Amino acid sequence: MKKKILVTGGTGYIGSHTAIELINEEFDVAIIDNLYNSEKEVIDGIEKISGKRPSLEIIDICDMEKLDGFFSRNKEIAAIIHFAAYKAVSESVSKPLEYYRNNLVSLINLLGLMKKYRIANLVFSSSCTVYGQPENLPVTEDAPLQPATSPYGNTKAVGEEIIRDTVFSDSSIRAIALRYFNPIGAHASALIGELPRGVPENLVPYITQTAYGLRDELKVFGNDYDTPDGYCIRDYLHVVDLAKAHVVAVKRLIEEKNKSGYEVFNLGTGNGVSVLEAIKSFERVSGVKLKYKVTGRRPGDIEKIWADPSFANRELGWKTISTLDEAMKTAWDWENYIRSKSQIK
Ligand code: NAD
Ligand code: WQD
Repeated sequence: MKKKILVTGGTGYIGSHTAIELINEEFDVAIIDNLYNSEKEVIDGIEKISGKRPSLEIIDICDMEKLDGFFSRNKEIAAIIHFAAYKAVSESVSKPLEYYRNNLVSLINLLGLMKKYRIANLVFSSSCTVYGQPENLPVTEDAPLQPATSPYGNTKAVGEEIIRDTVFSDSSIRAIALRYFNPIGAHASALIGELPRGVPENLVPYITQTAYGLRDELKVFGNDYDTPDGYCIRDYLHVVDLAKAHVVAVKRLIEEKNKSGYEVFNLGTGNGVSVLEAIKSFERVSGVKLKYKVTGRRPGDIEKIWADPSFANRELGWKTISTLDEAMKTAWDWENYIRSKSQIK
């Protein structure tokens, strides 16, 4: 029988791409999402691409009673991939309690119900944000974590600790925390992708919206950093590559191939790319000249960070496949697809 995986936040950006990869690998997918930052039509996209429609229950994971009801009806869950969270860094600064409540209460609820219903396996969405500005690059998993620069970032650091402590106290629970670097792009079909609400905070959706004519120009936050071209450096990885890592992590847990109850992996390409290089990549694949202006630095920005993904390469047998250009092209195709779709409506 197919194993069933619960994907929280499964109509969201990374969750929806992961649902497809899970279905491709013959898992049954059950999604819980409260549609705070996604649309239920995403399920149609997943079905069109994968040929299979995952179940969707619209539940707020902070609602313990409803979540308990879900588990009492679905006892055969082999693993949980927990994507559901609020993720806007600047919003978290003005609404810290909302972020702590949503991101931590949801996690605590899930862990409590994993114990109650004897669900052994958890994959958690963490972030490179826990490293702050690393002293040594590329950054490895054992680099010291820095105090978070936002409540959002702190929910990831604290979330990891909550999971680690739970695993140490209960040997029947196994968990993998995946520290994502900067996911970009969309499924090659352009049927699903990132749907930022309002003005995008992240670079790539801002680039594609500007190129499409929805924004006047991209403001580039500083070119006076201590980097080769003066622009900030990040490790951008294709969201489909990222999604595939979740399948590998889930299998590792289900097959009990994990080497300890709690494991942490960096998920990135290992390549540092500057904002200017990202813009040039976009221009190359889209044929559009991007309007941009260099402005002041964004407060709290990390100057440069990229992953050492060799632990994930070695232990998970996972590595990124797509190039930056390929990922950018899919981001551009997706932008064109959703804009044309909203004009048809
Ligand atoms: P997203 O907002 O597209 O998806 C998150 C989904 O969770 C949304 O569909 C939202 O409606 C849902 N959700 C939020 N709170 C919920 C709740 N209480 N109950 C039920 N559903 C809820 O975000 P994403 O980019 O797909 O990110 C997924 C995860 O990865 C998040 O935990 C995020 O913090 C983490 N992450 C993202 C990035 C990134 O750059 N996108 C980087 C590192 C880590
Ligand atoms: C990338 C680069 C900006 C927008 C976020 C979260 C972090 C983690 C990863 C979730 C930076 C520059 C951006 C713009 C710009 N996510 N930029 N103009 O900074 O790595 O962080 O994603 O866990 O927590 O904070 O990603 O896409 O916001 O920025 O010049 O309009 O693009 O300065 O150098 P970042 P980003």
